[in-house]
Amino acid sequence: MFLVLNWKMNPKTAKEAQALLAHTKKALARSSITAIVAPPAVFVADMAKKKGSLRVAVQHIHAEAVGSHTGDISGVQARSVGAQYALIGHAERRAQGESNDDVGAKVASAYAAQLVPIVCVGEGARDVHGHYLETVKEQLEAALRHVPKTKAKQLIIAYEPVWAIGATAPMSTHEMHEMTIYIRKCLFAHFGKAGMSTPILYGGSIDSTSAADMMQHGEVDGLLVGRASSDVEKLKELARALT
Ligand code: PGA
Repeated sequence: MFLVLNWKMNPKTAKEAQALLAHTKKALARSSITAIVAPPAVFVADMAKKKGSLRVAVQHIHAEAVGSHTGDISGVQARSVGAQYALIGHAERRAQGESNDDVGAKVASAYAAQLVPIVCVGEGARDVHGHYLETVKEQLEAALRHVPKTKAKQLIIAYEPVWAIGATAPMSTHEMHEMTIYIRKCLFAHFGKAGMSTPILYGGSIDSTSAADMMQHGEVDGLLVGRASSDVEKLKELARALT
């Protein structure tokens, strides 16, 4: 299984980041989980050096490789300091104006930089008419626009309903099971049979109390964890629940 640990804008210092990484390594030692740590960009180089058997992702990239984009970083730059994955289209980036087209361009740029994209999709709210399915489909289609069929395995889809991020509880496993089937259908439409092997993750308010249940009954290939990944006690409990 995949476990993406999205530290978001945590912790406060480089020293704390080193300590958190050490705790993460210890908590997941001897487990068969493929754990991907996504630290703030300033810590990526250091974390990549000390990662051990963990993998490292950058939380966002610019669509271009270099240029006049103050404050941004590119996939090539992240790759050059050891990042292996890039989160793209996280709800908190979309909330700052990242569009579906931007996501598509960034996915292409991630491949050009030899980073595996972790594409985040998810609707803002649910409605009785099922329009949210259309939203997710549009997000997926835009993200995959420049992705050739050969890349089905070098791609991770993280479904994160915006209403379940930073909330008190995750979405129900039953609802996730439905989404997994729906996303798989979309992947099949794009990749054909190869789309069966693209990992689908769930993210949104996962902790030790919900992780195992979501893995078992949500039919997912892994989890994307926010808050519980940068809190050492919660992280230890999470690892215990999953291993
Ligand atoms: P959360 O965040 O686990 O704190 O809800 C998930 C995410 O935004 O990736």
